[in-house]
Amino acid sequence: MGNKETKVELTPFIAKHYDAFLNAFSIGIYPFFTANVVKEANFKKGDSVLDLGAGTGRFACLIQKYIGEKGKYVGIDLSEIMVQQAKKRCRSFKNIHFIQGRIEEELPLTEHFDKVFISFVLHGFVQENRIKIIKNAYNRLRIGGQFIILDYAERDVNTAPFIVKFLIRKVECPLAEEFMQIDLKKVLSENGFSDFKEKFYFKNYVRLEICKKQ
Ligand SMILES: C[S@@+](CC[C@H](N)C(=O)[O-])C[C@H]1O[C@@H](n2cnc3c(N)ncnc32)[C@H](O)[C@@H]1O
Repeated sequence: MGNKETKVELTPFIAKHYDAFLNAFSIGIYPFFTANVVKEANFKKGDSVLDLGAGTGRFACLIQKYIGEKGKYVGIDLSEIMVQQAKKRCRSFKNIHFIQGRIEEELPLTEHFDKVFISFVLHGFVQENRIKIIKNAYNRLRIGGQFIILDYAERDVNTAPFIVKFLIRKVECPLAEEFMQIDLKKVLSENGFSDFKEKFYFKNYVRLEICKKQ
């Protein structure tokens, strides 16, 4: 692991078994949850989508259903093992591409997208790098394009039920609890986003935040 403060940089073992872990850990709920989130995120036919920290291609396949053959999807992920799995999973789609790289650094892209998506990635960075990622999203969006963030919501873990405390403090990335204390909308507003829409899941501990590049 390159960065000791984060757990989003997955070990090769976790990367290889990532989908199986999530499916088992969520008692089979996760695939339904992700399908519902993608539906609610309102991807449209022909959309171009950039996915930051794309993982195993689970979201790519779901998004493909909405953007269709005329749409385009580019996923970036640091882990070679994740990128390999994603490429294999999406090999039948000509308009889906994966790149290995760091999303907090300058992105190897110059085009502008209709949507930038980031799922369960932002919490795992120190704030300085979260802002670099938000700025990267802004720079890669067309004017009026949407930034779609799925991650932990702003909540006080001290008052959470035992199971949530255990998951956030013992299982999740050490940076997740600090992320949950941040006013994400304020940070996004300060970086050029507006027109916020949100949905909450899992007793409001998870949030889908959708905002627009002004
Ligand atoms: C918790 S997983 C989420 C994967 C996917 N977005 C999903 O929701 O299924 C976090 C992902 O971020 C990737 N990642 C971690 N640090 C990264 C970085 N600095 N740049 C790009 N990807 C990174 C990991 O390899 C992993 O695939």
